Amino acid sequence: MILNVTHLSPRTGSEVKIGKAELVNGAYAQEIRALLDQRGVLLFRGLAPDDNELRAIARTLGDLRIGASKRGSDGATLTEGEDGLLKVSLDEKVNPQYARFLIGNCLWHMDGTYEEVPPLATLFTPYKLSREGGDTMFANTYAAFEDLPEDERARVEHLNVVHTMQAALFPAKRDCTPEEFAVWCSYPVRSHPLVWRHKSGRKSLVLSTSGAYVEGMHPAESHDLLQRLMAHATQEKYTYRHKWQMGDMVIWDNTGTMHRVMPFDRESGREFHRCTLNGEEPITASSDKRLPA
Ligand code: SIN
Repeated sequence: MILNVTHLSPRTGSEVKIGKAELVNGAYAQEIRALLDQRGVLLFRGLAPDDNELRAIARTLGDLRIGASKRGSDGATLTEGEDGLLKVSLDEKVNPQYARFLIGNCLWHMDGTYEEVPPLATLFTPYKLSREGGDTMFANTYAAFEDLPEDERARVEHLNVVHTMQAALFPAKRDCTPEEFAVWCSYPVRSHPLVWRHKSGRKSLVLSTSGAYVEGMHPAESHDLLQRLMAHATQEKYTYRHKWQMGDMVIWDNTGTMHRVMPFDRESGREFHRCTLNGEEPITASSDKRLPA
């Protein structure tokens, strides 16, 4: 079956026109998965899915993330929302557990870099918009890798980057307390290849503000390289900036894009509902002879 698709920017983002019933019953699930892999971000306007519909659509596309995890030295247990539905808001009344971690969302990131297998994708729909700001930006990390000069591709393909929570959150809260910093430092630290060779054979850059340093490289050289790659990957030609309307639903491929929310007034009550799909493959380096299952 053929989807009705309009591209939103040359390298990433496509709008799909499809009825809600067809999304909920999964009639086009295969086509949507394939398009998500190619385009990184899919927009569905005027859909206004309620929480059960959002969960149902997520389940047609993959394995809906459900459950709880214990986080950091404060021992807080965070649940992935109610039955896989997470409320994303900086208002602690809406989401007392998560609000303090969501400050990092305003910087370019990939979700779940602390996990061996990062999430596959996110489904996101607004419940309340901020009057100003609050657009979400996406950057295609496949395209950014493909456009690097050949010698640079060869150089970065064999590097590993250590991801930490303090690297992700400190730039968003430079006036944090020592206690907050200590909680961030107690989070798991994980090293990932800088270039992901996906099961499909395509390769993408694995960049995120959580990327603290390149293993085995002098700190200054590592800092400069990560800054330069981040600047390269977030050039306008690789990005799509989404201005939200109520009723929108956006799905992004967390494995081949980064995202960020643009600044907005935290008193605005901006609130989105989100479902996350579990990842399906670990971040595998080109040099790794083991092919992911
Ligand atoms: C996120 O970074 O996961 C959320 C982005 C947004 O709030 O627009």
